[in-house]
Amino acid sequence: MKSDPGGKRVPVGVLGMGLMGRSIVTCLLAAGHPVTGITTTASKLTTTRRQVLALLKELEREGLLKTSPSRVIDRLTVSTSYADLAGAEVVIESVIENVETKKDLYRRVEEVVTRRCLIGSNTSAIPVSLLQEGLKHPERVLGFHWAEPAHITRFMEIICGKQTKPTFAKRAVEFARGWGKEPSLLKRDIRGFITNRCFYALLREAFHLVDSGYATIADVDRSLRNDLGYWITFAGPFRFMDLTGIPAYEAVTKDLFPELDNRTSVPKSMAKTVKSGARGVSNAKGFYRYTPESAARWEKLFLKFSYDIRKLAMQYPEDVGDRPARSRSRKKA
Ligand SMILES: NC(=O)c1ccc[n+]([C@@H]2O[C@H](COP(=O)([O-])OP(=O)(O)OC[C@H]3O[C@@H](n4cnc5c(N)ncnc54)[C@H](O)[C@@H]3O)[C@@H](O)[C@H]2O)c1
Repeated sequence: MKSDPGGKRVPVGVLGMGLMGRSIVTCLLAAGHPVTGITTTASKLTTTRRQVLALLKELEREGLLKTSPSRVIDRLTVSTSYADLAGAEVVIESVIENVETKKDLYRRVEEVVTRRCLIGSNTSAIPVSLLQEGLKHPERVLGFHWAEPAHITRFMEIICGKQTKPTFAKRAVEFARGWGKEPSLLKRDIRGFITNRCFYALLREAFHLVDSGYATIADVDRSLRNDLGYWITFAGPFRFMDLTGIPAYEAVTKDLFPELDNRTSVPKSMAKTVKSGARGVSNAKGFYRYTPESAARWEKLFLKFSYDIRKLAMQYPEDVGDRPARSRSRKKA
């Protein structure tokens, strides 16, 4: 079995078999790894297998998995025992967003893995430096921030905590590429990392426009889908400014930045919506109205869209404009 990050077959482990844990396991199996998934209760052992198999079949239907799902699933061990992680080169934790729970699990992982094993958290926003505190070998702990559905998306943020050694970060980036991701590296830890900091800044302003009566939820959504949504898969904000002329943005920044919302509390309509029991399409109650049938339709269409946008994004890798057309078509072939 290969043990270099470029090789795809080193054993890996995943902690937590929730929504993301299962799609992360699916991605790692599809990339060729033997995977051990750790769950809390024995009752979840067979359901987890069934759910992962369903995701693998979905990948096969979409042409993203060439090996038969029933053979791929043979590489999955679901267990309640940490001893089964021995031999893993990477362990990814994806349990509930709670610092103490996560740290407790890392201590248990450290008992069974070697010093060279990477330990990565899929935390959405907890600073990695906090998760490293008190561990025996914090230098190999980093953030592996995935986007749901993890077996389809190309997003990955790799986050260095204060004690992460650059050699481990480099290995993490190489692993991520082997999993079909286009990883970004955060050299210094900051709460929320890249996308969540930018997304929550956007959310704050969106709530401000709605709560102050400037526009409805549907109007805010429509504007963003048709402006930002039109170009964001092709270019990030900096490339977009290059494409559309930088000086105009400087002029607008001077006037607009002082007027943007800078609240530090939860927006009114968000608190009200959560208090009403709304969880979103999962319970057919959200910022929009749903019936159980329409909520299920939205979920299904979102999944279909994830595959469609992935196909489109693959035609436009981040360096697409840096290469002449001839080399682009050669690379594609
Ligand atoms: N859902 C997303 O879109 C998303 C995106 C990026 C990051 N994340 C992060 O991923 C992590 C998991 O999120 P999720 O959406 O999968 O949540 P989830 O609630 O679906 O799953 C959490 C899982 O952790 C398990 N768990 C809890 N304590 C455990 C323990 N001690 N040992 C083993 N398993 C344990 C639970 O049984 C559950 O299955 C969180 O840190 C979250 O912030 C989620």
